[in-house]
Amino acid sequence: MKNHNAQEFSQAVYWVGARDWNRRMFDALIPLPDGTSYNSYLVKGQNKTAVIDTVNVGFEEEWTARIRQAANPEDVDYLVMNHAEPDHAGAIPYFMRLNGKATLLASGKGAHMAQVYFNVPEERIRVVGENDTIDLGGKTLRFVDAPWLHWPETMFTYVPENKALFPCDFFGSHTASVLCGGEDAEVIPAAKRYFGEIMMPFRKQGEKALKKVEELDVAVIAPSHGPIHTSPKPILDAYRAWTAGQTRAKAILVYVSMWGATESMMKTMAEALLARGIEVGIHNLVNADIGRLAGDLVDSRAIVFGSPTVLGGLHPLGVYAAHLVKVLRPPARLAAVVSSYGWGKGAIRQAQEMLGPMGLEIVGVSEVNGPPTAEDHRKVAEIGEQLAARILA
Ligand code: FEO
Repeated sequence: MKNHNAQEFSQAVYWVGARDWNRRMFDALIPLPDGTSYNSYLVKGQNKTAVIDTVNVGFEEEWTARIRQAANPEDVDYLVMNHAEPDHAGAIPYFMRLNGKATLLASGKGAHMAQVYFNVPEERIRVVGENDTIDLGGKTLRFVDAPWLHWPETMFTYVPENKALFPCDFFGSHTASVLCGGEDAEVIPAAKRYFGEIMMPFRKQGEKALKKVEELDVAVIAPSHGPIHTSPKPILDAYRAWTAGQTRAKAILVYVSMWGATESMMKTMAEALLARGIEVGIHNLVNADIGRLAGDLVDSRAIVFGSPTVLGGLHPLGVYAAHLVKVLRPPARLAAVVSSYGWGKGAIRQAQEMLGPMGLEIVGVSEVNGPPTAEDHRKVAEIGEQLAARILA
């Protein structure tokens, strides 16, 4: 017998989502070592019922089985679309076919996306905006404009009677196994990794949204992935720091090495930084977990790139890393570059061309021919000392 339990985690508010234990990749880019969940919620008023967000395509049946434990899916009055990305909105067409009367509630941009992506007829959509409310009878849906987290149409839903916030991806984490609460020791690192992957390029919009959340009386935060935060203070404190771009005495070292020369210089750099009390996160791009790398970018004050010269420029994985840093827009402002070349230079020049426009100050570079000598290592350690001094300053 299948066991698709709904969970009432707050009075007449139910988790009715789906856990995707086996998903291992998101956006064809981000590894999901712990799978993910597509959190959907049902809010049951005395007169009306609403479902907030849906699930990824493929999970429709277990989703509606969970809904059915709290209400008849055909009788649901409102379907809230906080965000139009298919992991939360993919089951909208299924639901709108199953239920012939429900109204889809979305932001103005969301309404357009619901028509374009999910073929929802215009007459079944109602646009909602800042502080609009819908009375369900003893429960209220109140909407909060929160655009660009991480798409333009995103919004939050708040139920004041439960002091419950439904912010979709904001405050989320990719893990299938945790539903309510969980140990902070596990939750915050997963949320940080998620923030780095998804929210970091939108820190300014995140700060604005966070201010709005702080004006609400919030006792529970129920995002669309991972744990429901039943004690929201740790995640709010973390988001305050991350959206503000607060960094630590930490450097992220990102490198690729073909014959070991660049790698040996990166190890020297790591030792020099660690010896001065700088926290180090080191990632070999050949097998790097981009999610872990993004998580380390969230609070690193400096970035050290390492790449050999290949055909007159950076190794392609070095180009990839520099591009990732450009689009993820981490708060780091300091950088260093180390490189080795065989018969022609070029990696350092290309690294400087790519990093300069990102506002990164390059504290030092080291470019060696062939395997680094003891003197080369001494110079790399010297750059490490200079970088550590700047990080600590
Ligand atoms: Fe979890 Fe932006 O979708």
